[in-house]
Amino acid sequence: MKLMGTARINGQGYLEIGGVPVPDLAARYGTPLYVMDEELIRANCRSWRKAAQANFPRAEVAYACKAFCTLAMCRLAEEEELALDVVSGGELYTALTAGFPAGRIYFNGNNKSPAELEQAVRARVGRIIVDNFYELDLLEEVAARLHQRVSVLLRVSPGIEAHTHAYVQTGQLDSKFGFTLENGQALTAVEEALTKSRLDLRGLHCHIGSQIFALDGYVKAAQVMIDFLGEVRRLTGLTFEELDLGGGLGVYYSDDDAPVSPAACIDTIAAALKAYCQEKRFPLPKVIFEPGRSIVGPAGTAVYRVGARKEIPGVRTYVAVDGGMADNPRPALYGSRYSALVANKANHLPAEVVTIAGKCCESGDVLIQDINLPRLEPGDLIAVFTAGAYQYSMASNYNRLARPAVVFVRDGRASVVVQRESLADLVRNDRIPAAWREQESLRAVR
Ligand code: LLP
Repeated sequence: MKLMGTARINGQGYLEIGGVPVPDLAARYGTPLYVMDEELIRANCRSWRKAAQANFPRAEVAYACKAFCTLAMCRLAEEEELALDVVSGGELYTALTAGFPAGRIYFNGNNKSPAELEQAVRARVGRIIVDNFYELDLLEEVAARLHQRVSVLLRVSPGIEAHTHAYVQTGQLDSKFGFTLENGQALTAVEEALTKSRLDLRGLHCHIGSQIFALDGYVKAAQVMIDFLGEVRRLTGLTFEELDLGGGLGVYYSDDDAPVSPAACIDTIAAALKAYCQEKRFPLPKVIFEPGRSIVGPAGTAVYRVGARKEIPGVRTYVAVDGGMADNPRPALYGSRYSALVANKANHLPAEVVTIAGKCCESGDVLIQDINLPRLEPGDLIAVFTAGAYQYSMASNYNRLARPAVVFVRDGRASVVVQRESLADLVRNDRIPAAWREQESLRAVR
């Protein structure tokens, strides 16, 4: 277990984040609760931006907001001078509502709808990253209808297998994303994009996967993309100047993970890319990175309150908390492992191995299998670390659990950035068919 950012154990033996004791946060805002260390998010944004600027004459870091997308987070990304990667009309709407400048938005996604493309073109987003032939035609139509020109990148599937969970690998041959390089689709896509009168092709995009620790996949992908840009130059005489290398840098969840810092990641990619460009006599492109998890993941802590316990002698002890797969589907979905501590007993010695179960009606709803913790009692607070990415953004209302609140903490102050859902919120969009009501009134008359 590692404490990250401003997290520390205070004199009372409580976990404290951003200068606020976690038991105080739980008392004030309830549990489950997502606590985000604002200073650490900002520090991560700066590490990425500074490393990009130090290594490249032209570079941009676009925060991949699918990891955690709220008004406050989009505002923070803007304050930290990042660009933004969005993948849906909903994320785009959130960004624009937060006042994020449209020109610094990259729009990704493998099946953008006509309405989403129209929304993006009307807003004049900076780049639309076209994923397939259907989208090339559709976007040309939308742009023509709105009398606009659109700057695009083409997403290429570079045939690189990243060393990560199969569900979050994306660059390999058998992938739903992008134009495949190996079978010539990518080249056809470039040729077709050049025939579109409303589209300005600026460059290429690739993304090899997520939660990646070995940098060789990035280096290989960058080289493959430079080779392809070289081939395009030979065949068309055109030199495209933008190369988006996607996101995917891994973070620490448990001692199984050995993350690389953003600075080390960019240094390695930059050194390899510069050498390769020189060797191939291709001008160094403007490079774009799209980190999500590495910006917000380590800055988040999910806080739960302990309830029931079930001991099966000789087998296992389950301790249940007041959240689970509805607020964190990652263990059930990917078998992800997490580290945690007891926020109100942070300086107690470990006393028992327990399995932290959620409260959803599924045996698979286990947050942490076999963790060594101090003796747990009802009311204790479990803090699960690295909860900042793909948890709030993937949370559901399964079992009609209300989604938790999100608070940013900094310098001893807490600010709610997402309110806890209420029970009324859960039925807000439900409707009873009108015909049933008519039948009921008829019955009442009879
Ligand atoms: N760019 C593109 C095109 C992507 O598809 C992704 C992530 C990113 C950037 C950001 O990757 P990051 O730096 O956050 O790894 N729900 C999964 C992760 C799915 C990632 C999807 N794409 C999880 O919880 O692990």
